[in-house]
Amino acid sequence: MNQIQNSFETIADGLADKGYAVIDNFLSMTEVQAILDLGLFNENDLKKAGIGKGNKHINEAIRGDFIQWINKEQTPDSIKNYTDKLDALRLFLNQSLYLSLKDYEVHLAMYPAGSFYKRHLDQFKSDDHRKLSVILYLNKDWSLDQGGQLRMFLNDESLDFLPIAGRLVCFRSDMIEHEVLPATRTRMSITGWMLDQLADLRHI
Ligand code: OGA
Ligand code: MN
Repeated sequence: MNQIQNSFETIADGLADKGYAVIDNFLSMTEVQAILDLGLFNENDLKKAGIGKGNKHINEAIRGDFIQWINKEQTPDSIKNYTDKLDALRLFLNQSLYLSLKDYEVHLAMYPAGSFYKRHLDQFKSDDHRKLSVILYLNKDWSLDQGGQLRMFLNDESLDFLPIAGRLVCFRSDMIEHEVLPATRTRMSITGWMLDQLADLRHI
């Protein structure tokens, strides 16, 4: 089995057993660098993220990240390389876990140093079409003292994951509350959701 199939298996097993999975080297450093070389992770190319579906109210007390939704039809090759893998993962999970994931939506995300996203669930009360959250981190040479962990709240414990380049985190959007801790440096990722319906172009 090749490496990507192996990581798909690990993700399916993690989701089935625990509701989450963490895979390192989902993208190679060369693949990550090709995305960084686009130079998109800055406050001019991205927009301040809002809270809740259709609610563009900016609330610094809850989240401080900047985002840009990706139009899958018109994205640079280095990002398409990743979104093609996501779509292959979607089909794999449909087969292995009998899910009926129809599509996915993804955005670039950039947290300036000091910003955070308070504890939340990704499934909106008004919209339960987000089934799985999938985050790819793009930060080279990240160390523990720089913070920026993704903290997941499980039943009787919480787990922290550093946002290191090439790492993919996948979890059940309806089940796992989580937060992003502040970091001492800019924190970049591509964050997405697998949906049980087609993604409309509401974000783009
Ligand atoms: C989100 C989110 C987590 C992360 O965008 O909803 O929780 O680690 N992101 O970036
Ligand atoms: Mn979230």
